[in-house]
Amino acid sequence: MKMQKAWLYEEYGPKEVLKLGDFPVPTPRHDQLLVQVQAVALNPIDFKRRQGPIFPSDFPVVPGCDMAGVVVGKGDSVTKFSIGDEVYGNIQDFNAKGNLKRLGTLAEYIVVEETLVALKPTNLSFEDAASLPLAVQTAIEGFITAGFKDGQSVFIVGGAGGVGTLAVQLAKHFYGASQVVATTSTPKVEFVKSLGADRVIDYTKIKYEEINEKYDFLYDTIGDCKNSFVVAKDEAPIVDITWPPSHPRAVYSSLTVCGESLEKLRPYLESGTLKVVIDPTGPYRFTDVIEAFRYLETGRARGKVVISHFPSKDLPSHVQFQSNSKIIPDIVPQKAAVY
Ligand SMILES: NC(=O)c1ccc[n+]([C@@H]2O[C@H](COP(=O)([O-])OP(=O)(O)OC[C@H]3O[C@@H](n4cnc5c(N)ncnc54)[C@H](OP(=O)(O)O)[C@@H]3O)[C@@H](O)[C@H]2O)c1
Repeated sequence: MKMQKAWLYEEYGPKEVLKLGDFPVPTPRHDQLLVQVQAVALNPIDFKRRQGPIFPSDFPVVPGCDMAGVVVGKGDSVTKFSIGDEVYGNIQDFNAKGNLKRLGTLAEYIVVEETLVALKPTNLSFEDAASLPLAVQTAIEGFITAGFKDGQSVFIVGGAGGVGTLAVQLAKHFYGASQVVATTSTPKVEFVKSLGADRVIDYTKIKYEEINEKYDFLYDTIGDCKNSFVVAKDEAPIVDITWPPSHPRAVYSSLTVCGESLEKLRPYLESGTLKVVIDPTGPYRFTDVIEAFRYLETGRARGKVVISHFPSKDLPSHVQFQSNSKIIPDIVPQKAAVY
């Protein structure tokens, strides 16, 4: 059995349950790609899933949803991608039936359905591309849930986080908002303005009740609807991406995972209209995953927390995987080796 290095946990708990261990290299199913991971972005769901059984699954679990990497193997019915293609995507389809994958992206090699990934825009690094999928799919879904229309105004609670930085940019450059207002703390006000917000509210100085204007859409990315609802117009949609929504008028919005949504953004990414925001404390090295989680879990990240420098990064991938090799067994051990 071919083994690889992966971060994994065998019990729920704080970041200290994470261990660097060995996990079998998977075999792609007929509709899957085998991808050599080059970079990963962390998301709050990765630590929430580790802290308790939100999405129950057998142990060991390798966390991680987002990745960018190189296709090194593929199943027989894969048509869109070839060996050597550089792809990116969120490999965990939260809306599909059945359990999430036990092998998440904090590993050297992962498998993913071809429908969930897209070709990496050539102007983006692996780190840039890995930072996008889950956050941008979530940001998009909020606008869809609200039925947002060109020319409407939007108030975004939390403009500096992984989802918020993209929601601000999408509002301005993709959905044609007439006015984009976003909240953040003092040190990040200028940063959120630079993403395209027309007005940035420093929530440490101004309360929602002190804002006189009302907005066509209240997009709350931090779960503060019980307070923020006051800035929504009477009939305006209020979308909360945290569960459970904290105000009776708020509608919960959950991401749709697919490669197609990433494809639609390609022109905006290639032209630089939509900018990738990687938290300046990173990219973290593969060996520093626990430190990266510690930082993300402070709730203060600016954009995305990204991991790169995977152990297999410098190996010539085609030497290891010539094609859709059936000789790599798709067996998950009861207990992975941990060190
Ligand atoms: N429903 C879904 O499909 C879905 C998908 C993705 C994420 N989520 C959830 O959505 C939430 C946000 O995710 P994320 O990836 O954007 O998290 P994140 O990157 O960790 O968000 C961090 C940001 O939140 C901001 N923040 C914290 N408290 C704030 C406040 N009171 N007002 C304004 N901004 C505040 C911080 O800015 P300051 O330092 O300036 O406060 C920081 O920049 C998480 O709970 C996550 O689990 C849901």
